[in-house]
Amino acid sequence: MENNSRRGFMGKAFGAVAGIGAIGSLYAMKKSWDPLPSVKAAGFTTLDMSAYEENVLVTEKWRGKPIFVLKQTADMIEKAKKNTKDMERLIKVEDSYYMVTIGLCTHLGCIPGYRPETEDFLCACHGGMYDFTAEVTKAPPPRGLDIPPFKIAGNKLVLGEVGEEYKAMKENGITL
Ligand code: FES
Repeated sequence: MENNSRRGFMGKAFGAVAGIGAIGSLYAMKKSWDPLPSVKAAGFTTLDMSAYEENVLVTEKWRGKPIFVLKQTADMIEKAKKNTKDMERLIKVEDSYYMVTIGLCTHLGCIPGYRPETEDFLCACHGGMYDFTAEVTKAPPPRGLDIPPFKIAGNKLVLGEVGEEYKAMKENGITL
């Protein structure tokens, strides 16, 4: 009898410890599923727009994707002004205009190459072409390069945040 109740007590105690252990390991598993603070912070990329040079393509990174940044020359802006759609694709930060896009071809996702001499992009995979605002000029890409969500903050651009200018681009069908 005494043995039985002792066994009962031991059983309950063991059960309780096992229960706590299970909760502990569930907690540990949940922690490992949650993104690390650094990964959350990596959802945003801040670009200092004063660092870019005209007609020099720079490839940045945002959420693992290549981001093209091309500061426009005065000549490019003049040309873009003749084509409203081109102008609408550009981002004005302080007194300069920039093309900022995801650097993946909208056909099948290859990375197009920039040619500063001709101020255009050529996608070597299937011959698709884009102008200096990354608007498509030759099929098969179905549209211009996509523009990542952005917010203008002084002379900085925060990728991953949705600012008014980006919202307007989405509403006007400039980017998906
Ligand atoms: S992936 Fe660029 S043209 Fe096909």
